[in-house]
Amino acid sequence: MKRAIKNNVSWIGKIDWELRKFHGDEYSTHRGSTYNSYLVEEEKVAVIDTVWLPFAKEYVGNLEKTIDLKKINYVIANHAEIDHSGALPELMSRIPDVPIYCTANGVKSLKGHYHQDWNFRPVKTGDRLSLGNKELIFVEAPMLHWPDSMFCYLTGDSILFSNDAFGQHYASELLFNDLVDQTELMAECIKYYANILTPFSELVTKKIQEVLAFNLPVDVICTSHGVIWRDNPVQIVQQYLRWADSYQENQITLVYDTMWNGTRVMAENIAAGLCAADPVVTVKLFNLAKSDRNDVMTEIFKSKAILVGSPTINRGVLTSIAGLLEEMKGLKFKNKKAAAFGCYGWSGESVKLIRGQLDAAGFNVVDEGIRTMWNPDVKSIEECIEYGKKMAQLIE
Ligand code: FEO
Repeated sequence: MKRAIKNNVSWIGKIDWELRKFHGDEYSTHRGSTYNSYLVEEEKVAVIDTVWLPFAKEYVGNLEKTIDLKKINYVIANHAEIDHSGALPELMSRIPDVPIYCTANGVKSLKGHYHQDWNFRPVKTGDRLSLGNKELIFVEAPMLHWPDSMFCYLTGDSILFSNDAFGQHYASELLFNDLVDQTELMAECIKYYANILTPFSELVTKKIQEVLAFNLPVDVICTSHGVIWRDNPVQIVQQYLRWADSYQENQITLVYDTMWNGTRVMAENIAAGLCAADPVVTVKLFNLAKSDRNDVMTEIFKSKAILVGSPTINRGVLTSIAGLLEEMKGLKFKNKKAAAFGCYGWSGESVKLIRGQLDAAGFNVVDEGIRTMWNPDVKSIEECIEYGKKMAQLIE
């Protein structure tokens, strides 16, 4: 259903309350999500982005209850990923000649997804499209987070349509940032940044500086997921600049998996040593096999250091930890210290393997790590506590 945003700009997207996994099964969405699409009804009428494919018919059905589709002059595809372009085939089957404005990479992506030769109009940064008294200004945003990504800005109303940037996977009927629970909102924002945008942090900073240099007023930021930033929208821009700048809090996170509890006992006693040596630092422990991986990744993003633990199995590490180490290579966290721990029965390679993977993922590995043979006894528990105390000094 159409919801008013400002003057002749409306939200025409879809709230997906049921969504619990995104990007296939890669990203958990405990609070659902939204696919935000916008209708701008000036002298000329533009649709900005659409919704995910399963909702295509519902979306177009609702849209034609709102407006005669023949009145749509332009379609803007800020991003070709299916969650935003999925309803294009349904929409374009009804208005096949309407031009689609997107980046040159957007043309390639959309053709690659849908194999259609729609009326594409590739645009570059600074290009303008007149809607009558107001204009859309396009800003390419390559790799934020796909090569085709783009923002656009509506003059007069001072609205930035930022697509994925500044978004959250957060279903809400309340639509605007000032109306929702602020703790929930920021939790979803940081999770989104940590899990999706971290690898592109340098580009985030550059793009924000580039957009700020235009000196355009921004009254509203219309993202493509979650709520719209109408109250102090600059707050999320400033927060992105902080997150993009090797973000960390005074937190140490221990992430482990365990077979017979030996590595868990190590984790808890290393944590006890950390807390004894530094009563102010936040220490959090996660058995990764029992935790949500994306939530743990968010905690890693917030940490100044992590300790990763696994027992040795088949001369390697447990699969949850192997997956974590692999994913962290791609996320390219910056400015974080790390160490490894784990127990073993005979060959005992896990700590060395974890250390190597942490190093490959860009962490500053501070020492050789700690291993315990068989189940931790009184002596090895004491060694773990002492190790934790030592780490508190090394991590400061
Ligand atoms: Fe929300 Fe990159 O799609």
